[in-house]
Amino acid sequence: MRLNSRLAWCLAVSSLASSPAPIPGDRCTDPLADSASPDLYCIHLIAAPGAESTSGHVLLDFVPGPFTISVTRDGVQRYRPTIVLDGLPRPDVLDSAATTYVAWVTTPRYAEFVNLGAVTNGVTVLAPVEFDQFVIVVSAEASGDVRERTGRIVLRGGSPSTRLQPPDIQQFALAVTGAIDDTMSGHDHGGTGGGNATPRWTTVPMPAGIAMLPSEMALRPPVDPTLPVPAELRVASRRPTLVRLASGDTLALVAGRVQRRIHGREYTMYAFNGESPGPLLSVARGARVTVQFTNALDVPTTVHWHGLRLDWRMDGVPHLSQEPVPPGGHFTYTLTFPDDGVYWYHPHVREDMQQDLGLAGNIVVRSTPASGREEIVMLDDLLVGLDGLVPFGAQHATHALMGRFGNVFLINGEPRWVGAARAGETVRFWFTNAANTRTFNLSFANATMRLVASDLGTYDQPVPVESVVIAPAERYAVDVTFTGGGAVLENRVRALDHVFGRFIAQVDTLGVVQVGGTAGAAARPSPSATTVPLIVPPGEPDLTLAFGVRMTDLPYVTSRMMLLDSAYFHPVEWSGTMVGMNWATTSAQAHWFVRDVGTGRENEAIDYRVRQGDRRRIRLVNERGSVHAMHHPIHLHGQRFMVLSVNGVAPAARVWKDTILLPAGAVADILVEFDNPGRWMLHCHIAEHVESGMMTTLTVEPR
Ligand code: C2O
Ligand code: CU
Repeated sequence: MRLNSRLAWCLAVSSLASSPAPIPGDRCTDPLADSASPDLYCIHLIAAPGAESTSGHVLLDFVPGPFTISVTRDGVQRYRPTIVLDGLPRPDVLDSAATTYVAWVTTPRYAEFVNLGAVTNGVTVLAPVEFDQFVIVVSAEASGDVRERTGRIVLRGGSPSTRLQPPDIQQFALAVTGAIDDTMSGHDHGGTGGGNATPRWTTVPMPAGIAMLPSEMALRPPVDPTLPVPAELRVASRRPTLVRLASGDTLALVAGRVQRRIHGREYTMYAFNGESPGPLLSVARGARVTVQFTNALDVPTTVHWHGLRLDWRMDGVPHLSQEPVPPGGHFTYTLTFPDDGVYWYHPHVREDMQQDLGLAGNIVVRSTPASGREEIVMLDDLLVGLDGLVPFGAQHATHALMGRFGNVFLINGEPRWVGAARAGETVRFWFTNAANTRTFNLSFANATMRLVASDLGTYDQPVPVESVVIAPAERYAVDVTFTGGGAVLENRVRALDHVFGRFIAQVDTLGVVQVGGTAGAAARPSPSATTVPLIVPPGEPDLTLAFGVRMTDLPYVTSRMMLLDSAYFHPVEWSGTMVGMNWATTSAQAHWFVRDVGTGRENEAIDYRVRQGDRRRIRLVNERGSVHAMHHPIHLHGQRFMVLSVNGVAPAARVWKDTILLPAGAVADILVEFDNPGRWMLHCHIAEHVESGMMTTLTVEPR
């Protein structure tokens, strides 16, 4: 009997173990330089004892949706696994009661098993999984829809996120002295930077529930701290003034310093016309408006009109479209507004400081008047310590690893934002993310949401969503229908706790919508869709750009921690949890780059030229091999594009964009419509990354 079963096993193996139909370009078995990282988006399955002839792997794709990643309302990463299996014998060979194989997802401790569907040799797309860390298991079962796993396990493998491990605390505790020597030697930390009389580096605030290693606590940025000197002008925070501009109108816009009160404390910040956010500009599509800009700051600046497809000489890029406007200087911008949507304006000099201190305003472009209630909402976060604002680096930007995450959330400049709606009413929210680096995962309690538009246009159909994933510089419009009271606007994400090697929930309240009365709930009309003519040029991209970082002159502790950290990178770094090392790393130590894979050239040495009217496929590769891989919101000035695929998978809805959230280790293809001649920047919109060089210029030659 025993012999027979062994024979049957061999026969089964030889007859059924045909190789699975290969998936073209399977990144797990055939990784290419420009495919998604196999290390972050594959699971290699290990055969259990007795099933050694079997083999398999799992491709982890984001579940297709309107965003370039997929997460739950709580921010848990959601994958669509595709399993590729080979060498499975007939199930009853392994277990006489078994008739089929089933794939399961479970936790790293095998706490609960969820049936993902029956599987066979070859390729099977499984049900989506929503776990921070998980294990995929294949077992032989009596039927495909069993709810309890009882059969024999043949293959298993842990998600890449299970590699997140706590560091050896002992080792880092002993490194304290090294850290102090590294950071304190040979640098004057006095407040000699321009600005506030004597700002000092003290400590950096920690997010709740996150610990810092003792050695990390000793780190300080190797630059002078700076903050603006106090201003005469005191402003009360209030809604930005609505400025309606007709074609031919002129707006005087002044960037200057103000004293603002936030949560009862006074800070010196920057503002446009004394307001932060700056005045809300409302224009008709096709209008032509003049802005007479005055720089009343004590530092040079420019104004960039994010997303507008205007004359490139009006684009506000220092040393490219204009020289920076010196303190006391002026510049006249002529603006045109070819597309409906919500845009924004911000400086393009030391964004890490100037934009963070409050220089940002929205522009609403419409061809028809709004119907129904709308809220234009600018999201931001400010980093406040015990002594006030955490100073900025005078010579170079601080926080050059992950960017400057704030700990005070601001909605339209307000820490306690309150909106209003009636029960059953649908309010259209236009969100703009003006934060330096934070990507939000927004949702309302007691409401349903449908996504209607993004950067430069509308979706063909409204897309129901459970949350809105919005990276720096992106805009999304959602129709929110309020079903009851307590409609709290929240940011719900999963943070990586590096000290304990685990994921933790972070939930922040950004504001609240007071819901009263009932609406005569008329269905809200969707904005007319900007029909998206999608003639996708097939085949290979015309240009492949890779994004990554090199580090120089790092203190010992930081380089050791980065080594550990590189075991796993989450698709999006939702929260700044390596607080000390991030703060103490400057843009002179982290060299973020964009590389033309075809020529090997980097940053400003890239010389990519196209002709006006060209439509080009461009591939964006986020290099996982970098010492710190993380997501980048990549922004292209003056044109519009559409996302064709993320890790080879097409999104479920299309819309014109100017900024794409490129997840860590991921590859995205975009189709760019180069319709606007001139010299245009492409860069990461994390303020500290652009400050450290992650930018290039593309030239569109006129036809
Ligand atoms: Cu809003 Cu060059 O950016
Ligand atoms: Cu970046």
